[in-house]
Amino acid sequence: MWIAQITDTHIKRPGKLTYQKLNTADYLVRAIARLNAQIPRPDLVVITGDLVDFGHPEEYAHLRRLLEPLEIPYLVIPGNHDEREALRSAFPEHSYLPSSGFLHYSINDQYPLRIVGLDTVVPGHSRGELCEERLDWIRKTLAAEPQKPTLILMHHPPFMCGIEHMERIGLSGIEAFAEILKQNSQVQAVLCGHLHRNIFTRVGERSVLCSVGPAHQVALDLQGGEPGGFIMEPPGFMLHRWKDGRFLSHAVVIGEFDGPYPFYDASGKLID
Ligand SMILES: [Fe+2]
Ligand SMILES: [Fe+2]
Repeated sequence: MWIAQITDTHIKRPGKLTYQKLNTADYLVRAIARLNAQIPRPDLVVITGDLVDFGHPEEYAHLRRLLEPLEIPYLVIPGNHDEREALRSAFPEHSYLPSSGFLHYSINDQYPLRIVGLDTVVPGHSRGELCEERLDWIRKTLAAEPQKPTLILMHHPPFMCGIEHMERIGLSGIEAFAEILKQNSQVQAVLCGHLHRNIFTRVGERSVLCSVGPAHQVALDLQGGEPGGFIMEPPGFMLHRWKDGRFLSHAVVIGEFDGPYPFYDASGKLID
């Protein structure tokens, strides 16, 4: 099974620029074209939050229109830029989304991997939270299927990333979450967004990774004390493979690039 992960699409109303600078809709169009052209075609796309920029219904309507050409089924989870109720009503046929409360879900038997979506949003805030109620939910949800290989989707990463201004809008409850992961070896990976960078680590002995966005990235500021900013480093997405009991992830760059050129000449000799 191939799963493409795009994250942090930050769609605005038509004609409005993100941070008054960036046409995120155009970037999403390019990302979708790239996904549709991918061989082999992914079986599923997961969109890991910050789907729109300010949680407005018009932004979700715009996002839905932009997603229409996507030829692959997709799942969504919310990020801090999303608004639960507006998101819910924008995806009425996404029956895996609960009709009230947190936008948590688990899809148990539809795919070779069990997929668990976790809602880390705190309405009105940029930071994320795993409160007791949510920790309880994930604890019980994972305990219900201890043998089933599982993928967790969550917007706020459960680790400190070293970029100070992003840590200030990070996730609470990460120690307890790490403990839960430790007890659940069926978790193959935790896929996150929010940081707009490719970052890989281990939490509670499980693989956790964060993807770049299809438009803008967060500048790699590791010195601290900066207000932080976004940077137009190459856009991308992740392409995850679940095969023969192993989970593997490719970071894909979106864009037009020179090549590919051959390594070997017509006789099979390495080109010198
Ligand atoms: Fe974001
Ligand atoms: Fe975010």
